[in-house]
Amino acid sequence: MYLKNIRLLQFKNYPKAEVQFSKDINCFVGLNGSGKTNLLDAIHYLCLTKSAINGLDNLNIQHEKDFFTVSGDFDLEGKSMEIRCVFESGKKKQLLQNGKAIDKMSEHIGLLPVVIIAPDDTQLITDGSEERRRFFDNMLCQMHKEYLDQMVRYQHFLKQRNALIKQFTETGKWNSDFIEPYDREIIQLSKSIAEKRKSFIKEYEPILKEYYDIISGNQEAITITYETLCLNENFEEEFKSISQKDFIMKRTNMGIHKDDFVFEINGYPIKKFGSQGQQKSFVIALKLAQFQIFQAHKKTKPILLLDDIFDKLDDGRIEKLMKLVADHQFGQLFITDARPERSKEILEKIDSEINFFLIEKGKVSAWNQ
Ligand SMILES: Nc1ncnc2c1ncn2[C@@H]1O[C@H](COP(=O)(O)OP(=O)(O)OP(=O)(O)O)[C@@H](O)[C@H]1O
Ligand SMILES: [Mg+2]
Repeated sequence: MYLKNIRLLQFKNYPKAEVQFSKDINCFVGLNGSGKTNLLDAIHYLCLTKSAINGLDNLNIQHEKDFFTVSGDFDLEGKSMEIRCVFESGKKKQLLQNGKAIDKMSEHIGLLPVVIIAPDDTQLITDGSEERRRFFDNMLCQMHKEYLDQMVRYQHFLKQRNALIKQFTETGKWNSDFIEPYDREIIQLSKSIAEKRKSFIKEYEPILKEYYDIISGNQEAITITYETLCLNENFEEEFKSISQKDFIMKRTNMGIHKDDFVFEINGYPIKKFGSQGQQKSFVIALKLAQFQIFQAHKKTKPILLLDDIFDKLDDGRIEKLMKLVADHQFGQLFITDARPERSKEILEKIDSEINFFLIEKGKVSAWNQ
């Protein structure tokens, strides 16, 4: 699978742009703030119908405008597919595959696997558990339709249950009969989702370890532990026994929305004790393992977006990562760099077709060195 071209209209700092890509390596060079990351983000949009950076679609419409479109042609094992994403402020986002409107975004997610590596985004490690759940949920949703459906249902019931609890606090009375059907759904879905998360981590951890060793080049022992109460034998009773707490806090305090994934190096949480370099290596290993898992499940190489890696990694780690690229472990690659000469020097050693693009204030042109 690869992206043949992209067309942008009023997307972030691009008034209008059209770019033809190489099916191997594409490198975007240009000054800070020129639009390199925005172009990667547009590719992310086509694959997953959302930005990798902004949760709010509104922020991606060019300032002073009221809509954006991103479209592009993919090659899927020799078949061409046009994806078009249109968002107008205040309206529902539209997605078209070969001109046909897709009602449910869930029908699109998973079709075009993509992995983005931005070594700076260590908030996956340092922030709260929500970031980590989102990372693993995104991955599982792209691979398993049933997981995606269950997550959508879970969010729905959780929202309804929380709204009901708010009503109870207004009237000052907990009504077990009213809340019982929601409890049943949340308990049952929590058990099933937690089982899937648990078995996924079992598959994922050895691959993560392998990549961490490659990138860091050392023998630190890393582990990832899935923490949940939903697989406790008496989870059901525990869930019901904390209704008093739910009542006081006006929300549901148990369920898979409270789970966490704990990352450790040599037995200590990397969040508290990992150096910056270790954290960056860990983020890269998490993403490369994601790539590997997608490839195995989808039987195709995901698109790989590498944002600013040359800037943020030391020479040893860049060399190891580039060795993976040179060994043709990846499919289509998009790389950004603010320093053209450096990326040229690094990429020239690789035996692949490389297209360089110069980005200047939302304009793209071929850069022929
Ligand atoms: N909705 C928007 N409308 C117009 N411009 C926007 C919008 N959102 C972001 N921008 C602009 O896009 C530019 C940033 O683009 P981007 O992050 O792609 O830069 P970059 O080339 O990756 O820079 P760096 O090398 O610093 O990472 C900024 O100038 C920002 O003001
Ligand atoms: Mg950038």
